[in-house]
Amino acid sequence: MTTARLILDEIHPYVPGKPISEVAREYGVTDIVKLASNENPLGPSPRAIEALKNAISEVNLYPDAGGYSLVNKLSGIHDYPPEGIILGNGSTEIVELICEAFLETGLEAITGPQAFFKYRIACQIMGVRPTMVPMPNYTYNVDAMIEAMNANTRLVFIANPNNPTGTYLKADKIERLIDALPKEATLVLDEAYFEFVDLDDYPNGLDFLKAGKRVIVLRTFSKAYGLAGLRCGYGFASPDVIASMHKVREAFNCNSLAQIAAEAALDDHEFLARTMEVNRQGMEYTEAGFNRLNIEYVPSVTNFILADFKRPGREFFEEMLRRGVIIRPMAPYDLPTCMRVSIGLPEENRRLFKALEELLN
Ligand SMILES: Cc1ncc(COP(=O)(O)O)c(C=O)c1O
Repeated sequence: MTTARLILDEIHPYVPGKPISEVAREYGVTDIVKLASNENPLGPSPRAIEALKNAISEVNLYPDAGGYSLVNKLSGIHDYPPEGIILGNGSTEIVELICEAFLETGLEAITGPQAFFKYRIACQIMGVRPTMVPMPNYTYNVDAMIEAMNANTRLVFIANPNNPTGTYLKADKIERLIDALPKEATLVLDEAYFEFVDLDDYPNGLDFLKAGKRVIVLRTFSKAYGLAGLRCGYGFASPDVIASMHKVREAFNCNSLAQIAAEAALDDHEFLARTMEVNRQGMEYTEAGFNRLNIEYVPSVTNFILADFKRPGREFFEEMLRRGVIIRPMAPYDLPTCMRVSIGLPEENRRLFKALEELLN
């Protein structure tokens, strides 16, 4: 038998949200509501759908490997040079590219036990066990992360806002983290939920980059633009950092339909505004529901919310599936009695609470 690399034994594969078709098959239920993967409940951007219809007849051709048109559009919108922008098969692929470019056995990375799960896997694949700095109060402990840094540290990962906790760090904390980085280290600032945050003191990671700080900023079309199934994310960094990432990138990593849909979605301001409004109202409804049922939750600035149901997550999750509602168990994040719930359409949010009320009473 061929022996796999030993470190693979340590990797707990990422467990995605359960697909609707699988729940239908396994539980024999219909009319299923999925609030498990922080997807856009409105569907894809209509402008993206239109663009896809025209583009589909050209999938016999390879994509533009450099994503010229989309990269230049992002460059114009964000006033940042195209050489400092990279596309990915989702932003999770860019996390992998970063690790491939900057980590190897003997080097170190830092993140937290309630940070997005992908960071630890991408480090482990490169032979690095990331230092998991505890996150009291469901947020990053910047001082403890700084203490964990040393000359071997190359990457520090945070999501802002963070998944699965829904909390965020203000500019002063992020700046402190960046300024404390050892000489050869970079902060990976994952802003997958950037568009959802409507707060004056929420920082834009690009401002740190433009100020010359060592940071890689990640964004995605999967959430606010409703294109998760197409897989398109993007990253900003200094051109030398991006050049290293291009070296490990598969040439056609961002497919042609994803590029075309993403570019069209960037112009869909109406869809983005509607997405934010549906989310705002849904979050209000969900918080009110948790308050009514006396369920503890972590106030969230994004499109999902973490709640502690104070009972074993696995059984609770399955009971919800039997009622046709898919939510996300949090055991992989060392939160065995918590669940993460995505904000859905009004009817979906009502279904969530109908099931919760049945189960909790
Ligand atoms: C913090 C964070 N980063 C990245 C992603 C993945 O995004 P993408 O679909 O672009 O790979 C997610 C998705 O859940 C996320 O929560």
